[in-house]
Order: sequence, then structure tokens, then C-alpha cells
Amino acid sequence: MRTLHPVSKGLAGNIDVPGDKSISHRAVMLASLANGTSRIDNFLDGEDCMATLQAFRHMGVSIEKKGKQVIIEGKGASHLQEPSVPLDFGNSGTTTRLMLGILSGLPFFTTIFGDQSLSSRPMDRVVKPLRKMGASIDGRGNGNYLPLSIRGKALKGIEYKMPVKSAQVKSALLLAGLFADGETTVKEMVKSRDHTEKMLKAFGADIKTEGLAATITSKTQLKATDIFVPGDISSAAFFLAAAVIVPDSEITLRKVGLNETRTGILDALKQMGADIEIHHEEEIGGERLGDITVRYSPLNGITIEGEIIPRLIDEIPVLALVATQAEGKTVIRNAEELKIKETDRILAVTDVLSTLGAKIEPTEDGMIIYGKTPLYGGKIKSYHDHRIAMMGVIASLIAKDTVVLDDASSINISYPEFFQHLQHIQ
Ligand code: S3P
Repeated sequence: MRTLHPVSKGLAGNIDVPGDKSISHRAVMLASLANGTSRIDNFLDGEDCMATLQAFRHMGVSIEKKGKQVIIEGKGASHLQEPSVPLDFGNSGTTTRLMLGILSGLPFFTTIFGDQSLSSRPMDRVVKPLRKMGASIDGRGNGNYLPLSIRGKALKGIEYKMPVKSAQVKSALLLAGLFADGETTVKEMVKSRDHTEKMLKAFGADIKTEGLAATITSKTQLKATDIFVPGDISSAAFFLAAAVIVPDSEITLRKVGLNETRTGILDALKQMGADIEIHHEEEIGGERLGDITVRYSPLNGITIEGEIIPRLIDEIPVLALVATQAEGKTVIRNAEELKIKETDRILAVTDVLSTLGAKIEPTEDGMIIYGKTPLYGGKIKSYHDHRIAMMGVIASLIAKDTVVLDDASSINISYPEFFQHLQHIQ
């Protein structure tokens, strides 16, 4: 249980948000499959990325971690060994779905499991297309739910039109494509985050992208490379939101990833009237990054739908909070994927915000928020979902009374320094 108090003045200061979760996972995976020594700087040492790192240690990869620096001595995929224990993927959907792609093509047997939330998330979105490539995967619900077992097989390339908007599915198939005979092409309906494609290129894979399609050709040995992980815009989002809703605030978030497939939150906030400036832009390893300065701003409601959704999917909980402080109606549509995140985020967001006094209605594929409403104190639940917990903490900053959060431990999944950083700007 955590008791949270409202702030009495504006927030001010600079924050180096932790490394990007999606990029940290991919860096460990590709460095472990590559030949040679890769150094990863600003690695996110949250629980999710540690699950990925431990998985490769169990497959015999030498991985040294000193704080936020990780050094991986890759010997190539053919040197990976059958793990002697089942792999624990904790709460991490990204680890599970991407590793299913990798493990399907490795010549050994693996069992994977996770926590209660992960065990109820659908895996058939990756299992079905992987089976088309020749993968042998089994588990509950005909291979839809963890625990799953994978017996690595020779895979063949396929052309796959994705029926869901998911970077994890795209990435799983491209990673399996590394081991498949011939070409593997994945076509998306809407562009989702493209860190896998970018990083595969950096490691020397034969991958081409054209519009909404990516094609990988197998049998290239990946070559080690150094990676700098930009700050996670999905973590920065909580402080962007805090600054725009707490009067008299100005915060700068440094070295944040600005990959266009992730910056929907900036576009949405600007459209709501937020005062946001970007400076010191640079590009490292194909990924854009920069500093973001954000100030308290009067806001208006907007409609968030269509192509922007995958560009801000993880930021919707905190955007809904911001919308409670915007004049007029905010409508979020086409976000049905929210129902199968760490929890059903449509239900969790509407529950937490309405408990605090917001006018918010859940819909089939999103929510409608009627602002501007004051927020009050109350007892809220985290649903053991890191992004719901952090949204609740940021909401408490402007609440009229004390907010009690049932459990803040899930925050360690993506942002272990969250409370320290929050303290620093108060
Ligand atoms: C991620 C993709 C998204 C996102 C998740 C991380 C990734 O999931 O919500 O937090 O690293 O590829 P989906 O692919 O299920 O949309």
C-alpha cells in the first residue's frame, strides 16, 4: 500500500528517464545471437528486460551487467545451449512473444512460463504464424497460453499479412525469419514500432522495409555492435503528463527516444494544446533522440483514433488522465488492443479515474472522457500493471485529497527509479 499526497507547487527540474524497454529487450536478443562482443549502454534494468537477459544466460551466453551497462560475448546462434530449467518470463509480453520467434528456430527444447497476468495473455497471435513457418509449439488452449513448450525445428520463410496491430507479432516473425529458409515477409495494417527492423540492420541482417512490409532473408550471421539505448518515451510520458496538468510546472526530459513510430504521445499532447519543445536532437544507431521540455498548459479535448494508436498505445492510460484536465470531450477509438495488455487497460483506466471523480466511460475499443473535472482522493488499484500504477501516482499530484494505491511494486517492471525521479522534481 502506498499513500500519495497532492503537490502544493509546480514541478521543476531535469530527468534522465531510464532506457527504452522495447530497445533494451531487442539489444540483448540480437547481441546474444551475434558473433562478437556487444556493449549496451543505458540498458533498462527493469524486471521485464532482466527476464530476457536471464533467458540468454540460461542458454549459455556470457553476459556481464554493471548497472546500466551490459556486455554480451556472443558466439552466434549455433552456440546457444538448451536451457536446463524452464525460462521464467515474469510479466513480460515482449520477452515471451519475441522469444517464441527465436526459440522456434533453435535446435533444442524449451519450456517458458510467466506470472498470472502473462499466463492469461493470448500467444496464438504469434504461435499460429510461427506454426505456418514450421514451428513446434504446444501449451494450454492449443498453444495460446503459457506455460508453453517449444521444440526448435527447421523453419521456412512465409509471407504473412498481420490481422492484429502488434509490433511484437511483427518482431517475432522477423526474428524467426533469421533462421528460416528463404525470405520471410511481414505486412502490417498500420505501422507499429520499428525497433526490430532498425536494430536487425545495425547487426548486419539482410532486411528490407518498404511501406508497411518488412522482408528478412535468413542465413546471415549477425555481427556484434554497440548500442546506446535512448530514454523510454513511454516512461517519459508520465512526467510529460505531470508537467502539463500541475500548474506552474516546467520539466526537461533528457535523451528521450524520438523514433517516429513512438512519438504519438507528443503529437496528441500538442494537439490538446500542450507546450512542448524538443532540443538537442541527434541520431544514434538509427534511432532519433532528443531533450523534451514541457510546461503546464491549458488543454482541450481531442479525438485519438486510427493510425496514431500504435504510436501511443502504451501511453493511453496517462493520456486519459491528461484528458480529465482538458476542456471538452476526448474520444479514444480503435484501441481494442488495450484489453489484452498487462491487464484490461480500458477497464483499469476507467475504474481508477472514475474512483478519483473523473467523468469517463469505457467503450468497446477505447474510452470517452468528459473534462475538465477536479480529481479527489480515494483508494485505487494498480491491477498489478506498471502503467496503471504510475498513472495513479501522477493523478494523485493534482488530487484534492490523499490517494491510496494498493500496490506500487509493479512499477519496477519498467521504471525502478520512478519515485526517486518524482521526488527530484517536487
Ligand atoms: C512492444 C509492443 C507493444 C507494446 C509493448 C511493447 C514491443 O505491444 O504495447 O509494451 O516492444 O514490441 P503489441 O505488439 O502487443 O502492440
